[in-house]
Amino acid sequence: MPGRERIETELVVVGAGAAGLYAALNAASLGASVTVISATPLAQTASYWAQGGIAAALGDDDSPALHLADTERAGRGLVRRSAAEILVNEAPEIIADLQRIRMRFDADSDGALALGLEGGHSRRRIVHAGGSSTGRRLARQLSAALVREPRVTILEGTRASNLWAEDGRVVGVVCEDGLAVAARAAIIATGGAAALWQRTTNPPGSIGIGITLARAAGAAVADLEFVQFHPTAVTGVPGREGYLISEAIRGEGATLIGPDGERFVDELAPRDEVARAIWSVLEQHSVDSVGLDMRAVDAGRFPNIAEALQQSGLNPSSELIPVAPAAHYMMGGVVSDLNGATNVAGLYVIGESACSGLHGANRLASNSLSECIVFGARAARKALDEPAAVAGQPPISVALELPSQATREAMWRNAGLIRDRAGLELLIDDPYPLAAMVARCALAREESRGTHWRSDFPALEPELDLKHAVISGPEPTFEEWH
Ligand code: SIN
Repeated sequence: MPGRERIETELVVVGAGAAGLYAALNAASLGASVTVISATPLAQTASYWAQGGIAAALGDDDSPALHLADTERAGRGLVRRSAAEILVNEAPEIIADLQRIRMRFDADSDGALALGLEGGHSRRRIVHAGGSSTGRRLARQLSAALVREPRVTILEGTRASNLWAEDGRVVGVVCEDGLAVAARAAIIATGGAAALWQRTTNPPGSIGIGITLARAAGAAVADLEFVQFHPTAVTGVPGREGYLISEAIRGEGATLIGPDGERFVDELAPRDEVARAIWSVLEQHSVDSVGLDMRAVDAGRFPNIAEALQQSGLNPSSELIPVAPAAHYMMGGVVSDLNGATNVAGLYVIGESACSGLHGANRLASNSLSECIVFGARAARKALDEPAAVAGQPPISVALELPSQATREAMWRNAGLIRDRAGLELLIDDPYPLAAMVARCALAREESRGTHWRSDFPALEPELDLKHAVISGPEPTFEEWH
């Protein structure tokens, strides 16, 4: 019989990636007590693995309006403008805020912020730290700031098993070991679900735990058919399967080379376009990889990538790196408003677990860390306005189901870059509930748009512009978001 220990706090945050840590820090700075629950150690969060940077319109030739236009163009007619406006307008300020907590971004030779370029951006606007180590440095810096906060308790190695709800309001979180954390609000920040696909760039914990918990508590989920496949993940190299080669490297001039020795795509087009172009080369030539030519790039600017490749016996300054697409980021998640609130009172969601409509059908590169920070701060402020909870007896914790290898293989086969009805229907009865929900959204969207490509419905249907597939009952329904 597990123990029944109980903690009282004002805010409970589930997940210790960039979004969760920043939300906790903001809540603590407003005077609240915060408990952060994290199943995995910091180094296994998706934020820690993130090689991309933080997108913000900071250059003299840039503006939030241009950042908005690029976000909307990449999102293929599905971006919720109100959410994207918040992101592009608030992103520049958060860079300054992160500098206040001693986050050091890469600088150019004049000491100004060095702004990088990635796919789909019309201007240089990505700030990095340590080249491709931005996520790692951000997570470390936020953790260091939190450790200095006496009001914050971090429970590492503790897995949330269910949300604690009373009279339709979330009043806390129950953990697998029986610990119950009572709070006036809970924020889900557990990341996405790209590790549900066999070939992925994500850590193994990215299986949508928070999305599953929120849905079980009655929260609506949406846009699960939109999963971004990163174009350049290493393949065929033992021990490095799925290792991400940052798009920032293409931003500095790396090119993609097909088996015939020729370039075949604009390497800085939005990610859905580049991933699909690679996929057709793989199919057409019956090969497993294309070559990433990094020979013109100063690999020393991306030390962690250069080191990982060298450890695998690959020399980026003299040979092509074998790459192919891998599942990387889920645009869908728990439906949230512009402050991270869900349809369940007391329940908030931020970061990749959330679906505010910001990314539409295809996220613009490096908008995700910006989202974690911008919406993490907003959700923390709003959640503290919830009435103080008077929680009674917590529910019994339940052991969480994990996806099997068979589920991950089936997702790759049937809900990969190119899908069709016959394959998606095979997932409908999958024992992992989130896999079945992805299939239901993907079946409902009978068109091809962004990262969702149906071979049986290859055209984009303009009447589905701005329409999001929302699951709040047995079948998805389409809702228009502005
Ligand atoms: C990358 O560095 O290519 C990934 C960054 C992102 O997912 O935006």
